[in-house]
Amino acid sequence: MDQNQKSGTVILCGSSGRLGSLILKESQNHPYPFQVYAPSRSELLEKITQQKDSYWLLDVTLPEGTESLVDFFLQNPLQKKILKGMIIGSTGHSDILLQKIQKLSESLPMIIVSNFSLGVMALQEILKASIDKDFKVIDLLKSLGFLSSLVEVHHIHKKDKPSGTAKSLAHAAQISFEDVVSLREGEVVGDHKLIYSREGEELSFQHVAHDRNIFAKGALKLLERAMEQEFKPGIYESKDVFLKNN
Ligand SMILES: NC(=O)c1ccc[n+]([C@@H]2O[C@H](COP(=O)([O-])OP(=O)(O)OC[C@H]3O[C@@H](n4cnc5c(N)ncnc54)[C@H](OP(=O)(O)O)[C@@H]3O)[C@@H](O)[C@H]2O)c1
Repeated sequence: MDQNQKSGTVILCGSSGRLGSLILKESQNHPYPFQVYAPSRSELLEKITQQKDSYWLLDVTLPEGTESLVDFFLQNPLQKKILKGMIIGSTGHSDILLQKIQKLSESLPMIIVSNFSLGVMALQEILKASIDKDFKVIDLLKSLGFLSSLVEVHHIHKKDKPSGTAKSLAHAAQISFEDVVSLREGEVVGDHKLIYSREGEELSFQHVAHDRNIFAKGALKLLERAMEQEFKPGIYESKDVFLKNN
């Protein structure tokens, strides 16, 4: 395909934020095969209602922004006609918002991604594989006397605690959210460490995000893969997008 030829449209919500502005910059600096529109908060609903061709929504606002978008589509079902799906990258969703997302997913593909980094996606799958299979590695660790803990460190501006990624990793590793230690320090991009320790030894899985741009690149790669496929209404996670058709 001609590198300038665009095969789809994306409306980016939250483009003035830390993550959204990186996604916008990355999409402008590299030849992604889709057109990214980045309306401001006040122009967003107008852009959505005026859209004529099919499009995807990439939401990297805050939970309240996600909720107002979800409410908008629940209350205006006709507006979903040309919407191919929604990728939600905000974190810290309330139970009420999760219920609304569930409701909207009955008629729209909803891809929920608490961390766009490809490394975190891989780590989640490694952890899930260690409890899903017949040979349960986590049970083995427990029976050997290892205690588990999860520590996450982020920048001081981060609003939710524990982080969405820590919740996903804790879920995958069967650790309760109350046992997650959350630290907020300086400008740390993101550090998640799952530790199994017993007297005299320690085993750990760690993901360190050194550069915030990995989230922008990961989000656009996910979009590119999602736009190559058709999704039925439902809730999806990033591995469903990357592993589909493989
Ligand atoms: N999935 C991932 O990989 C990943 C990575 C990093 C962060 N996150 C999450 O992504 C979200 C954004 O993070 P950030 O650091 O970019 O936050 P941020 O810098 O505070 O930016 C928030 C963005 O959301 C917009 N916004 C806020 N409230 C809104 C509302 N009610 N309606 C519409 N738009 C609204 C803001 O617009 P205004 O400029 O108009 O206020 C701004 O563009 C957070 O939930 C964060 O935890 C996810």
